[in-house]
Amino acid sequence: MIRKLILITLCACVNLACARVEAQDTMKVIAHRGGASLGAENTLGCIRKGILSGADAIEVDVHLSADGELVVCHDETLNRTTSGRGRIEKLTLDQIRSVSIKKGEPGEKVPTLEEVVREVKDHCILLLEVKKSREGQYPGIEDKIVDLLVREGMMGQVVLQSFNDGVLERFYALAPELPLEKLLICRLPFGLAFDIKLHRFSFADYPHVRSFNSYYGLTSRRFVRDVHAQGKTVRVWTVNKLSQVPQGVDAVITNYPQRFLSK
Ligand code: G3P
Ligand code: CA
Repeated sequence: MIRKLILITLCACVNLACARVEAQDTMKVIAHRGGASLGAENTLGCIRKGILSGADAIEVDVHLSADGELVVCHDETLNRTTSGRGRIEKLTLDQIRSVSIKKGEPGEKVPTLEEVVREVKDHCILLLEVKKSREGQYPGIEDKIVDLLVREGMMGQVVLQSFNDGVLERFYALAPELPLEKLLICRLPFGLAFDIKLHRFSFADYPHVRSFNSYYGLTSRRFVRDVHAQGKTVRVWTVNKLSQVPQGVDAVITNYPQRFLSK
């Protein structure tokens, strides 16, 4: 708790000079968890509405079931978003599909990544966040995702993001043509950053990453300038109001794509 407070205070100092401005016309809009204000997050119903909103991309979160199936859900467990309970990595696809989505459309189930890919295909970019909170979790998830994207003819329509550097490195080794984006909470002073943990940070460690996707509230003007100087982009999450958009960012990842797209 104390560590969290120190982190937040540090970041507030970093951001003192960060003015908030109206969204620029060129800024991309990404529907977070499918556009979570439009339906039950990370479901096919919500994703359909996110596409209809005109978002440039749909963002979803990917996990692996006990029997090796790719499923789309934000949390590592079913507890918050479904009628079921348990860790996805301990449950088979049949078990995961036997529960219903809380506040979902009638009969709605936890979608497989294959279903999501087919829903988004030919409509907009799919931004996949691959979750892995510890090494050794979800063995082979990167290979399975690449196999699916190749099989579905989606390699040119998908972008991969992760907080986990190992995940990004494995994707680069498997399929260097896939665009990669580094998720972080924020860069800190003294060559540090916070993603899932505090660690040293240098742009030189991310030669294959095209974008740094940071928490909007801790994204400083200086960070945006430094990323741009690297020829890369900044996308901020999860920003839900125009007034919260940090100056100069290239995209917003939002639960409310409609607010950023309506003129
Ligand atoms: O796209 C960035 C954002 O999705 C990261 O946070 O927890 O909503 O997956 P989270
Ligand atoms: Ca996500």
